[in-house]
Amino acid sequence: MGHLWLIGMMGTGKSTVASLVAEQLQVPHLDVDALIVEHNHRTIADILTESEAIFRVLESAEIAALARLGDAVIATGGGAVLEPSNVEAMRATGSTILLTASLEALEQRLLHAESRPLLGDDKALARIYESRAQVYMQSADIVVDTTDLDVEAVSEEVLRCVAT
Ligand code: S3P
Repeated sequence: MGHLWLIGMMGTGKSTVASLVAEQLQVPHLDVDALIVEHNHRTIADILTESEAIFRVLESAEIAALARLGDAVIATGGGAVLEPSNVEAMRATGSTILLTASLEALEQRLLHAESRPLLGDDKALARIYESRAQVYMQSADIVVDTTDLDVEAVSEEVLRCVAT
């Protein structure tokens, strides 16, 4: 099957959906952000506060390492698609599944989210949303709109798409 790489904005449910889909397919479930934390003994917020550039280097290194492993369902961080070589590595080793949601839905879901240094001011989410819309679509093999779906329904839709 190759890897299933979940991409998309923060708040689209990538991590939870990855674990549900992996369980159904009986393959490992991996999370790029969790691996960065584990391997660097620092929180994502801590690394990002120091330097987004350093965070992006660590993120690319994890993606390159994951690309060499056997089949898994992998949740990436929202900015993983910003580096073209990450997208190349993902597509060379499987399929990219983009989870989308309306800006309003993301605002609601991220209202009480834990510390996210990239969401510094009120307009930050909208700015990131607009600026990434095109690169997300260009990076996606499959697109699932999560706006009106819970994580179980999104997982079912992902499974249906990969089965056809
Ligand atoms: C980021 C999204 C986060 C995390 C980091 C940067 C982004 O992951 O990788 O805070 O640039 O959109 P989630 O999409 O899992 O929240």
